[in-house]
Amino acid sequence: MSDVAAPAASTWTPSAAQNLEKVLWVRHWTDRLFSFAITRPESFRFRSGEFVMIGLPPAPGESKPILRAYSIASPSFAEELEFLSIKVQDGPLTSRLQHIQPGDDVLLGKKPTGTLVLDAVRPGKRLFLFGTGTGLAPFLSVARDPDAYSNFEQVIVGHGVREVNELAYRDLFTQDIFEDPLVGEEARQQLVYYPTVTREPFERQGRFTDLISSGQLFRDLGLEGVTFNRDEDRIMLCGSMDFIKDMAALCESHGLVEGSNAEPGDYVLERAFVG
Ligand code: A2P
Repeated sequence: MSDVAAPAASTWTPSAAQNLEKVLWVRHWTDRLFSFAITRPESFRFRSGEFVMIGLPPAPGESKPILRAYSIASPSFAEELEFLSIKVQDGPLTSRLQHIQPGDDVLLGKKPTGTLVLDAVRPGKRLFLFGTGTGLAPFLSVARDPDAYSNFEQVIVGHGVREVNELAYRDLFTQDIFEDPLVGEEARQQLVYYPTVTREPFERQGRFTDLISSGQLFRDLGLEGVTFNRDEDRIMLCGSMDFIKDMAALCESHGLVEGSNAEPGDYVLERAFVG
């Protein structure tokens, strides 16, 4: 047969590199931001803070799925896989992904990876997790992992957004995490939530770069020194390209050294999912 038609979407099957999983729940934070969770295959292992490819089966008339890298927002031992996503009206993936409902199919890559993991930072006293926008996602995973609290005396979750309503997971960090059976007690003693808003009034305003350069962040945390200290401070960064570039430069100017899985260091970074 020479004129075989392209397979209909219903006959499409995932490649050997992907699993087909089911949506468990969806939560819309704003018209630009939502979270969702999918089933976790038993064979799927990851370290808190890693990312994985996520996608949707091809729409009718399309032959290939569109996949994007997403940080996993749930911790490594969780039964479900949670994600935080923006909604881009003409985005190749998120224009469709924002409409998913419980029971729908989502594609999950089989190889999670990433550097925003505890293995990539040297032991220290304080762990700073700075995320802007959806860059909070990997830190939702790390901050719900008991290892963060056994490795560090203090875990600081910094979330920077333009508008107050983009402070997704505020309830988690101001109350729910303290009731968590696994990390609640540690979080009560060791976790500090540090949200900041840049484009409307809020209890704390300004970019992290400015809050750090001015020393305000350190004063807010009651720390003696008003800079990062290479002996004690470890930093993870996730956000826009500009954000991680400027924050990395700031870290370097404090003498901090970038780490990787092969060679743990003082700070690590990753660009947040964008399109
Ligand atoms: P701003 O409102 O001053 O641009 P975005 O949605 O653009 O990724 O921004 C999310 C948050 O990160 C905003 O509060 C934004 O502040 C801040 N931000 C953006 N770029 C940088 C940067 N280069 N350094 C520090 N903060 C940044």
